[in-house]
Amino acid sequence: MNAIVTKGLTKKFGEFIAVNNIDLEVGNGEIFGFLGANGAGKTTTIKMLVGLLPPTSGSIFVSGIDVVKQPLKIRETIGYMSQKFSLYNDLTVEENIDFFAGIYGIAFKKAKQLKEELIERFQLQEFRKFLTKDLPLGLKQRLALGVALMHKPKVIFLDEPTSGADPIARKYFWELIQSLANDGVTCFVTTHYLEEAEFCSRISLIDSGKIIACGSPNELKRKYFQTPIFEVDFGNLEKNIEVYRKGVSNSEISFFGSRLHITMKELSVSENDLRIQLTSTFGEQPRTIRRILPTLEDVFIKAIQK
Ligand SMILES: Nc1ncnc2c1ncn2[C@@H]1O[C@H](COP(=O)(O)OP(=O)(O)OP(=O)(O)O)[C@@H](O)[C@H]1O
Ligand SMILES: [Mg+2]
Repeated sequence: MNAIVTKGLTKKFGEFIAVNNIDLEVGNGEIFGFLGANGAGKTTTIKMLVGLLPPTSGSIFVSGIDVVKQPLKIRETIGYMSQKFSLYNDLTVEENIDFFAGIYGIAFKKAKQLKEELIERFQLQEFRKFLTKDLPLGLKQRLALGVALMHKPKVIFLDEPTSGADPIARKYFWELIQSLANDGVTCFVTTHYLEEAEFCSRISLIDSGKIIACGSPNELKRKYFQTPIFEVDFGNLEKNIEVYRKGVSNSEISFFGSRLHITMKELSVSENDLRIQLTSTFGEQPRTIRRILPTLEDVFIKAIQK
């Protein structure tokens, strides 16, 4: 039995279709990334998956429970870390943990033990007595994750859990997610940091409410980029951007900061072939040119263009 299965999941707000006919199958213990730009429909999808928002149409099963029919029953089985934290800022770290243990209906003695486990696993020892509002964002996110896990759910939904945190906090957070997945917890994570999606076993790209691509990061790269990609640095990209935008034949160009990514349409183009072609097209030699592996950002751009 898969951890999460949806068929034809759709949410309309009036005439507007926020989530459009989404089919998902997420296996147990997977880290599943749900990726999309602002407004793509990520939070709306999560809210339906956790039983907070009834879908307009379609079915949802989480851990075998029919979420549309039994939205309350699912609560014991899942954890949810919302995009806007549910933590209380004017409670201390410990008080927040105690409070949520109460909400989950965990008995006092058990709650005490789970609290100690949580504080240790999430390395919050030094911060027990800190007011939550005084914690740096990365620690708040850690605490929010810990609290969402208190009742030991089998499936956890994380809505942009690392948004705004610094790279070190984000790395630590992803290590926690990986250790959860190793323990068999299914993690459904939304993000718009494409480099984070590399940590996922599979990802779905969502655009305007529709899934436009789904697979493991490597599958997607292979699917969208069978031909070579080169990163080219001309040194003065801004000045001549309109010239470069015209591109060179048999390729597609996208701009990454001060560099060009040129995706060839033929398999057997070498760096040298491209150098000759660029020099004759633009009348100048690129400074550097090297073959690169596509990033998920490349995949995303290409999937959206299609
Ligand atoms: N209750 C609502 N009523 C009307 N429109 C809504 C409602 N909730 C969301 N929307 C719209 O649905 C679309 C998808 O919103 P959603 O919050 O799911 O996007 P998101 O992918 O989570 O974006 P972000 O990355 O900004 O969090 C947006 O256009 C949003 O304005
Ligand atoms: Mg959102």
